[in-house]
Amino acid sequence: MSSRKILITSALPYANGPIHLGHLLEYIQTDIWSRFQKARGHQCYYVCADDAHGTPIMLKAQQQGITPEQMIAQTKIEHMADFAGFGIAFDHYHSTHSDENRYFANLIYQRLNDGGYIKRDTISQLYDPQKEMFLPDRFVKGDCPKCGALDQNGDSCDVCGATYSPTEVKNPRSVVSGATPILKDSEHYFFDLPAFAQMLQDWTRSGALQDEMANKLQEWFKDGLQRWDISRDAPYFGFEIPGAPGKFFYVWLDAPIGYLASFKHLCETAGIDFDSYWAPDSDAEVYHFIGKDIIYFHSLFWPAMLHGAGFRKPNAIFAHGFVTVNGAKMSKSRGTFIKARTYLDNLDPEYLRYYFASKLTSGITDLDLNLEDFTQKVNADLVGKVVNIASRCAGFITKRFDGKLSANLSEPELFADFINAGDSIAQSYEQREFARAIRDIMALADKANQYIDAKAPWVLAKDDTKQQEAHDVCSMGLNLFRVLMHYLKPVLPKMASDSEAFLNTELLWANYREPLLNHAINPFKALMQRVDPLKVQAMVDASKENLQPTAEPVTVAKAETAKAEVNVVSGEREPISDTISIDDFAKIDLRVATIVDAKPVEGADKLVQLQLDIGGGETRQVFAGIKAAYTPESLVGRQTVMVANLAPRKMRFGLSEGMVLAAGPGGSDIFLLTPDQGASAGMRVK
Ligand code: MSP
Ligand code: ZN
Repeated sequence: MSSRKILITSALPYANGPIHLGHLLEYIQTDIWSRFQKARGHQCYYVCADDAHGTPIMLKAQQQGITPEQMIAQTKIEHMADFAGFGIAFDHYHSTHSDENRYFANLIYQRLNDGGYIKRDTISQLYDPQKEMFLPDRFVKGDCPKCGALDQNGDSCDVCGATYSPTEVKNPRSVVSGATPILKDSEHYFFDLPAFAQMLQDWTRSGALQDEMANKLQEWFKDGLQRWDISRDAPYFGFEIPGAPGKFFYVWLDAPIGYLASFKHLCETAGIDFDSYWAPDSDAEVYHFIGKDIIYFHSLFWPAMLHGAGFRKPNAIFAHGFVTVNGAKMSKSRGTFIKARTYLDNLDPEYLRYYFASKLTSGITDLDLNLEDFTQKVNADLVGKVVNIASRCAGFITKRFDGKLSANLSEPELFADFINAGDSIAQSYEQREFARAIRDIMALADKANQYIDAKAPWVLAKDDTKQQEAHDVCSMGLNLFRVLMHYLKPVLPKMASDSEAFLNTELLWANYREPLLNHAINPFKALMQRVDPLKVQAMVDASKENLQPTAEPVTVAKAETAKAEVNVVSGEREPISDTISIDDFAKIDLRVATIVDAKPVEGADKLVQLQLDIGGGETRQVFAGIKAAYTPESLVGRQTVMVANLAPRKMRFGLSEGMVLAAGPGGSDIFLLTPDQGASAGMRVK
């Protein structure tokens, strides 16, 4: 096997927030793949950086009364410590606010400009006259232009699911100052993405993308590619565009260029030839690991920018799904929005590395971190199976056989089975089918335990005539353990290195086929503690945040909305409504309903389309704005309560025939009602 040149990246985390378990799926996935490639003897580099530019970072620093530079410097230290805590072994971690990045951003822009791919145009945008800045979509709120719902986002409505431009919003307000935005003209710079349509189509078909992604791209091509607005007006934290005073590169322009910048820095310090990786005729492989939310940037803008500026394109983009916790989006009030640091304060990082690996495939489906399953699986597999092999065999070797493994390999066929599994395990790693690799490794661990159970060395050891056999069995067990740890090393670097100390040998892909014979080992020390469910609970408790008042001023056009928002942020109870009569209440027909189907709604990020069985053979369709709190899959099969006699409402996506009941302020903090066990669909709630 000849040695490959491989450059790997993970997406660059924003420098305005902490690393959380959702992020970690990506960094753990990438790190396992990178460690695997390195173990196989390839020349492989893994680089990343903080994504340090943009309006949110600028505003957050302002709120904290520090400069953006101070804030991103502090965040970078925290991010790097979090990553180190989880064993993420970057070859270099950089920042997009760096000289290298400015250099490449300017270079790429200049080349695109020379190529005629940059166009200028004047556009009209919402502007905050008080704060004197243009407002990104997410900094505008107002009433939905389609259904009139109050206090919706600048670009989409939670209630009816409509999407629109912030200039269409009724009663708009700036989230930054509360002022009413005005429309203002400004000249913007655009990247001519449509000019690359054919190249991108060809690239898409070259195998650079997973099937799900390639299909998504076909839809985008069909809808037609749009020019991309790459400039932002001052005030902005970013790089000023050369020759355009007061205009800055939009954060997403220089963010992927950060991959080049980080690698360039590594090349300078480690003497690597940058061009041999990034020139169009490069023989190196380049892969970007990303989450499914940023596919558009990586599969359209980024390859087009590289191509237009005379660089090679990546060999592939590897997208993954999103982490949910206990079947729902991570939520601060449920304590499932778990920061990397909170996890590290309570639990061993290798538990999470193992759990994610055991569920990761090459696809982009979401991955649920079910905390009970997590505890059970880690304890059963790692402690109960893998460590168990070593702990059952090691004592005898140390106490009775002078710390030395036998000179015999007593079960060569069993050993050969373990060795021969290596190629297909390696193939699973290579294809990012980590779950399959782990399944195969655990099947071998079962085999090793069965072997030890059958031979019962603890019985043999008591019989003076069977000392040789006891020695052989325990040595065999440890040789099997060694092969397993070798396969697990990309996933569990710490446990592998402790095992290396114990086995007194390095676990290398080049020599694992040779058994250890007549080999001195060191006394066994516990390689991993069981997951303590109390610690898991402590982590969840420590993650529960009372909803703090945000620094964001609550000056809303509508006094009513302002009140509701104040109540939520201060944790106060909403006032009780006016008294009604029992007859009034009787008008509301509440029914127990079973959710028989739940689907996401194309074009409405917040909505779930529910099919509700309400007894009597009747099924109702309801669109509920609960997607931020529940994944559709987690809803199927559960019971809830619905208003069954609400007048049906026609929405963009179809008819909504009622309403399900839920509590909570909204967003990911929505709590669906469930009747007690034993209720059946159609029962009236009175
Ligand atoms: N700064 C951009 C990326 C620029 S890359 C040139 C960004 N940052 S991020 O901090 O929001 O996310 C970083 C990575 O973490 C992204 O790939 C994103 O998809 C991933 N994840 C963030 N939350 C996640 C989950 N809950 N689950 C899985 N991945 C998640 O996007
Ligand atoms: Zn609406």
